[in-house]
Amino acid sequence: MAPGRPTANGPGWGRSYLVSPPDYFTVAYEINPYMHLQVIPDHELAMEEHQTMVSLLRRAGASVERLEPVDGLPDLVFTANAGLVDRAGGASRFIPSRFRHPERQAETPYDIAWFSARGFDIDHLPPEEPFEGAGDALPFEPEGASSPVLLCGYRTRSSITAHRALSDLLGLPVRSLELVDDRYYHLDLVFCPLDGRRAIVAPQGLDRYGCRVIEELVPEPIWLEDDEAASFSANAVVVGTTVLIPSCSPRLGRLLERAGLEVVPCPVGEFQKAGGGVRCLTLALDMELAGSRRPLYDTSGTSQLSSEQGCVPPR
Ligand code: ARG
Repeated sequence: MAPGRPTANGPGWGRSYLVSPPDYFTVAYEINPYMHLQVIPDHELAMEEHQTMVSLLRRAGASVERLEPVDGLPDLVFTANAGLVDRAGGASRFIPSRFRHPERQAETPYDIAWFSARGFDIDHLPPEEPFEGAGDALPFEPEGASSPVLLCGYRTRSSITAHRALSDLLGLPVRSLELVDDRYYHLDLVFCPLDGRRAIVAPQGLDRYGCRVIEELVPEPIWLEDDEAASFSANAVVVGTTVLIPSCSPRLGRLLERAGLEVVPCPVGEFQKAGGGVRCLTLALDMELAGSRRPLYDTSGTSQLSSEQGCVPPR
């Protein structure tokens, strides 16, 4: 079996992560509906939650690498937003984010420096359009397919125009999903690929078109109820068949276990005060993205939907 392919035992990636400890983590500005300058995270508790998360990742079989925290960059902890990593075909490629908010833009030189120092090629997106990395881009590869589709969120943070550039850069079909509710401002708050058949999905953050894209692509989506979505249950990390999840209702737990997955609660309440959960705190270092078969911004599978909102017609 080719490496990086999804199996019944997981998405085929997600065994290696970059994290950045919360030494300087706080809420110093408000750029999402969860951040309130009056609600400051508890430093000790945040450090503890982060350490526990790293231990749980390791216990599940993942390796964890460290990006040095930087004073004055409180959101650097959310490494999912650093950019997108591609290891396809033995390549080491990093596409840095272009943060929408000036408050986070100073993170990028540190992200680039980390990847450059490790021999990654740095591929830049055009400068004009915001794109917030793996927080807004997650691959799904249906069982039996030969390459993944990259699902990309846009509106609040990333711009849809960046998606075409990403598709061209990766030679990969990209499906653009509009994030319609500001509470779900990144794709990783509404979508979590589990394996070649399943994904956790919060329809609360998507429009009808987005839900249909998911229905077409994912054979067995696990749809979240309102309280599950609001408590960041889609912001989980999958290591093989282990799901590290910020919160899990008994109902969701039963569904995941029925799907053969082990549910490991990973409370990150202090980080939720800044609008992030487990997925936001990690950047997978082993995604294999680049394809060569369908090197276009691909709308083929949803052609009947292409006139609807959220789908840029092909050039
Ligand atoms: N405070 C951060 C921001 O608003 C949280 C980022 C959460 N990251 C994510 N991948 N959803 O940018």
